[in-house]
Amino acid sequence: MKKIYLGTNTKMYKNIGGTVAFLEELGRLTKNISRRELELFVIPSFTTLETAGRLGEQQNIRIGAQNMGWADEGQFTGEISPLMLREVGVTIAEIAHSERRQLFGETDEAANQKVHAALRHGITALLCIGETRQQKELGIADEILRLQLKVGLHSLRKQDLASVWIAYEPVWAIGVNGEPATPEYAADKHRVIVDTLSELFGPNEVPLLYGGSVNPGNAAQLAGLPHVDGLFIGRSAWNAESFNHIIRSVLPVFRAKAAVSISA
Ligand code: PGA
Repeated sequence: MKKIYLGTNTKMYKNIGGTVAFLEELGRLTKNISRRELELFVIPSFTTLETAGRLGEQQNIRIGAQNMGWADEGQFTGEISPLMLREVGVTIAEIAHSERRQLFGETDEAANQKVHAALRHGITALLCIGETRQQKELGIADEILRLQLKVGLHSLRKQDLASVWIAYEPVWAIGVNGEPATPEYAADKHRVIVDTLSELFGPNEVPLLYGGSVNPGNAAQLAGLPHVDGLFIGRSAWNAESFNHIIRSVLPVFRAKAAVSISA
């Protein structure tokens, strides 16, 4: 059975002290939630990873990196290799977040190399996809999602999917100027993603997370949608209490959905 996936990327916000305080509090608040059911993860800044990796293990919180180079080592100034990330306890690599795509020119081809690098080193690849506002307005969102999946997951074998998660994050929904996707819209795009993944790989259990302006007011509704296995949250999760509040509000929704699908 699929787990429930709830996590946050703290972007370029928390320093080491802030990350430690956040992880300690989040660990304490969520201690009584079984990690057999919940995959709880935090993706902080690179400079915090060594400390976060140690703390995450104590607190049962998986730690991810916000980016990753695709080579093991070499002449790649400014890049961090999967081996280096493994060394500090990172088990998830966030790949091609929309800010990396929009601001730093990251391509689907680069994302594909990073996905392969993560898999080679036993790191879960969290591939982020999503259409821009312009692509949405042009009516090509579905094509864009299919393209990002086909290139991003190119030449993966079916068994590799055990270490792949997909986050659908419409670019226009992300951040302070973002406007959350309506449940109907998000459900429709999750359906496109599921269809594309089954076309590429046959039946599979790749977890699909929704992200983009998830907040305490819309989290439960988004969690209840078909094909939404988790939520990838920014601003609303950066305070441990508020994140815990969202977690507690969506767990029963995910559980109810799983119960219905088992009895169906
Ligand atoms: P947001 O960020 O929840 O603050 O919109 C989401 C993300 O960038 O993953």
